[in-house]
Amino acid sequence: MAQVVVVGSCMTDLVSCTTRLPKPGETVIGHKFFIGFGGKGANQCVQAARLGAKTSMICKVGKDSFGNEYIENFKRNEISTEFVGQTEDAATGAASIIVNSEGENVIVIVPGANLLVDSEDLKRAADVICKAKVIVCQLEITPATSLEALKMAHASGVKTLFNPAPAQADLHPQFYTLSDILCCNETEAEILTGLPVGNPEDAGKVGSLLLERGCKLVIVTLGAEGCVMISKEDPIPKHVPAGKVKAMDTTDCDTSCSPVVFIFVQSSNSSSLEFK
Ligand SMILES: *[C@@H]1O[C@H](CO)[C@@H](O)[C@H](O)[C@H]1NC(C)=O
Repeated sequence: MAQVVVVGSCMTDLVSCTTRLPKPGETVIGHKFFIGFGGKGANQCVQAARLGAKTSMICKVGKDSFGNEYIENFKRNEISTEFVGQTEDAATGAASIIVNSEGENVIVIVPGANLLVDSEDLKRAADVICKAKVIVCQLEITPATSLEALKMAHASGVKTLFNPAPAQADLHPQFYTLSDILCCNETEAEILTGLPVGNPEDAGKVGSLLLERGCKLVIVTLGAEGCVMISKEDPIPKHVPAGKVKAMDTTDCDTSCSPVVFIFVQSSNSSSLEFK
């Protein structure tokens, strides 16, 4: 049985590197192209698997070559693909990314099959969802589906971790009451609360506001500044600094893969992020 179940998105990243971005109607010649596996849900699932958790991904890809390759990639990472659906009704989610030599980019995301993950898929996976230790959801699939997954998990006493990304200002209030852990970055925290977040002190303020909306624990990530954590049990904001890392851009055209930088949070309440 999976310990960590992720209900979320998969995207194939198609990255072209050029010296400058094309104007409308213009063709420019690039010097490098690569394909990466992305999507917030899948990235989180792969990371949990690499940290040693037994994982299962609940998502949908197209019946196309990108979809096939995506499933192979899950298998390579020892993620259960029992609930990875393949549909003929939409293409695998794709992100077309163009990066210039200044590192600026333009991105078009076509969610495709991601938007077809629905109640039926959750029902089929009900046993795995309800027996998990942790369920992880984001907002790159239809929000109603994420909300339903959180409801199912919550009703079975499964710990729920919600990452409101990409952020929406008018999030359904139940997202908060159903989240044991709400983890967002500073931009997302600003969108959710309307308050600016520029430092750990601000993050503590938005954290306590988000806590009032019903979550049990809030983590606001702050990049190089680490994160701020606040919980119902311990309502005094706690700043957890991050160790120094060499940051790699996910669209860095000088690397041949698509690395993702994660900041790990050691919770003082060790039960909250334990996978064992
Ligand atoms: C926060 O996450 C969003 C994706 O939801 C991303 O677009 C944004 O750049 C991130 N903000 C920071 C400051 O990292």
